[in-house]
Amino acid sequence: MDRTAEINLWTDRIPVTDGRLEEFVSDPIACMRRLHREHGDLAMFRETSEKQQQLVFIFSPELNHHVLSDSKTFHSQFFTLRGPRNSAQRHLTCGLLSMNGDEHKQQRRQVAGPFEKRSIAFHHDTVTSVTDQMLATWKPDSVVNMADEMTILMRKITSMILFGTDQLDLALEIGEMLDEWVEMNHQLGLAAFIPRDDFMPEYNRMLSYAEKLEGRILDLMKWRREAGTLGADLLSQLIRVHDTTGGITNEQLVGHVALLFGAAHMTSAYSLGWTLFLLAQHPEVMTSLNHELQGGVYDEPLGAFDSAKGSLLDRVLRESMRLLPASSYSQRLNDVPVELGPFSLPRGTPIIFSSFVTHHRPDLYSQPDRFNPDRWLTISPTPYEYLPFGAGPRMCLGAPLAQFIIKTILPRVLKHNRLSVVPGAEVNGLVVSTMLNPISGIPMQIFEPDGRFVTSPVVGNIHALVELPAAAHQRRAAA
Ligand code: HEM
Repeated sequence: MDRTAEINLWTDRIPVTDGRLEEFVSDPIACMRRLHREHGDLAMFRETSEKQQQLVFIFSPELNHHVLSDSKTFHSQFFTLRGPRNSAQRHLTCGLLSMNGDEHKQQRRQVAGPFEKRSIAFHHDTVTSVTDQMLATWKPDSVVNMADEMTILMRKITSMILFGTDQLDLALEIGEMLDEWVEMNHQLGLAAFIPRDDFMPEYNRMLSYAEKLEGRILDLMKWRREAGTLGADLLSQLIRVHDTTGGITNEQLVGHVALLFGAAHMTSAYSLGWTLFLLAQHPEVMTSLNHELQGGVYDEPLGAFDSAKGSLLDRVLRESMRLLPASSYSQRLNDVPVELGPFSLPRGTPIIFSSFVTHHRPDLYSQPDRFNPDRWLTISPTPYEYLPFGAGPRMCLGAPLAQFIIKTILPRVLKHNRLSVVPGAEVNGLVVSTMLNPISGIPMQIFEPDGRFVTSPVVGNIHALVELPAAAHQRRAAA
């Protein structure tokens, strides 16, 4: 349907749902799916309390395109508390996601170098060595929580890629502190929706933690400059840009580093965890992939430019990021009043777009809740129909790096182990801080690579997100 026809339809019915914003905060996917079911491509959620806050939701490729391609009108705003001017909290939150207009364009250009495809292959040895260390701790027949394993693995890898390995303890310490700080921001950010009595003491605690964290990042930057040890890590590369062009200030460097860590670490960990879960639950796909793995298809380091394009591994990752996108929604704020469908939106209205809802539209993907990597042999969605890394001028800067890391880790993990979800496990996906978190863990049992893949019965809200194949005993009972 073209946009004019869509807008005419809206004049007959105003797509507004009244409710409490807690509903959105406590389960964003359930809330967005309800709005999509009730209203279609465009919806407003209006807070009924005295706050009268309103959120607008867009779910169609056309509206995604309209909003995401126009970064002049629709601004990005980091979901966080910015802190007082000149505070460490302000510096840590001034990365790309908080910038707009010319400042964003100029800084994105400055930061882009280390993310170019030719730079990312440098990180191959870091990724493989940390993965191998993890694998050495897995014993046959033991059970691991795959969500935790991937989070720890990605925290280490991200710390090393960002901060280098020659000050490993400091790099890992900064990674852990960034993790803790991101969690504090999330908890306090919720107070915008759900008031809490201890807000001020907790806010002050976060401000002092931010100071400590900034201090450690500055220590590392100082050490790198003084020791003259600028390497291939991202911080060194950004320091080089700062020192040669002056295009990035020290405060901006701190902000970029904090955002890069936050943007890279959990998203990649969740994508890995969900992909391993989906593979374990789909024995036919896993059998085909195993065939390629045992045949040595992925033994050579990935070429940074092809990243296994066209392989089953590539289709598996595309499909897993379609079905369970780690970044399930994000927002823009209109910088000027705008008309959107039947709405006249005052400046600063939050407009939420959702890769999860768009990726589950049956008009774009047949049987959208099923994991079917081979659909990618015949479909070729537009960037606004398939957007696990966002779309438009603010699309994820780290997308090629993330794909490189994930496609390097998966074959290593899968070649020497058969993974099976622990039967009866509870698996839940909940969006926390915009990311689809396997919140209750993914318990998996490790077996020798015997190729005997089976689906396990699981419980939890995962069944509301994905249509999983029945486990063998369930199939027998149904027959
Ligand atoms: C599977 C892993 C990842 C996923 C799913 C992901 C997803 C996303 C998404 C959806 C956005 C757009 C947000 C918006 O439009 O509001 C984004 C932006 C961004 N991502 Fe990623 N990301 C991943 C990994 C990474 C990595 C590894 C890095 C860097 C080390 C990174 C750096 C960034 C940056 C800097 C932005 C902001 C770009 C801008 O505003 O210009 N991401 N990411």
